[in-house]
Amino acid sequence: MLSTENIKKLRCQYIGPSLSLSYHEPLHIVKGKGQYLYGSDGRQYLDAVNNISHVGHCHPRVLAALEEQNRLLNTNTRYLHDNIVTYAEELTNKLPAKLDVCYFTNSGSESNDLALCMARNYTGSNQTIVIAGAYHGHTKATIEVSPYKFDGPGGAGSPDFVHQIPMPDPYRGKYRSNDGDIALKYADCVQQILDVLHDDNKQVSAFIAEAILGCGGQIFFPEGFLAAASTKVQQTGGLYIADEV
Ligand SMILES: Cc1ncc(COP(=O)(O)O)c(C=O)c1O
Repeated sequence: MLSTENIKKLRCQYIGPSLSLSYHEPLHIVKGKGQYLYGSDGRQYLDAVNNISHVGHCHPRVLAALEEQNRLLNTNTRYLHDNIVTYAEELTNKLPAKLDVCYFTNSGSESNDLALCMARNYTGSNQTIVIAGAYHGHTKATIEVSPYKFDGPGGAGSPDFVHQIPMPDPYRGKYRSNDGDIALKYADCVQQILDVLHDDNKQVSAFIAEAILGCGGQIFFPEGFLAAASTKVQQTGGLYIADEV
């Protein structure tokens, strides 16, 4: 195993500088298991920030399935195969009846990119409503709808087809838990954007929102906000993209 100092040196030499490291003293992580990460010094860390490993690190059933499939076949979707259809059938059986069709992707960014593409195709418009502080991925299209990126360090600001509402944060937001029906007040911010688009003769394409704002600070929205906001968008012919990554 390379020493931590050596890795830092090689990283400077071979890895592009825009790939930033976290922490004043970067961690040298060598192993993950369940909810834990382990450093090269054997120290155990409770992982609260690593990118999405929904069932924990190195889950034995996931590993076994990956290994078995990789030994057998790793190809694209242009051939008939039973896994894709049986998996889609099992998955949709667990979802509300209206969610009855699947597209499988490799990452959260790719999923949101595809959803934006579909919304734009369906509505013939790219006008998108987003929530301040939201993060939806690292592709060009998803950075364009991620205030966390375009309003963050090095960001180029909001594209003119992207419209932000304030973060529906009942604790520190524009409207707070003792300000009455704040779910509707924040949903009205969406309505105000829809009204401006309407006055400008523009069709809304999509409202994209995380179920819980992650990078924005683990913000739980006021109950009923997402239902009210998405209904308003759908009533004007736009789509609601639920980023549940
Ligand atoms: C809410 C949300 N959307 C999208 C993404 C992008 O997912 P991925 O890193 O799999 O491309 C993330 C990743 O952290 C996320 O938290």
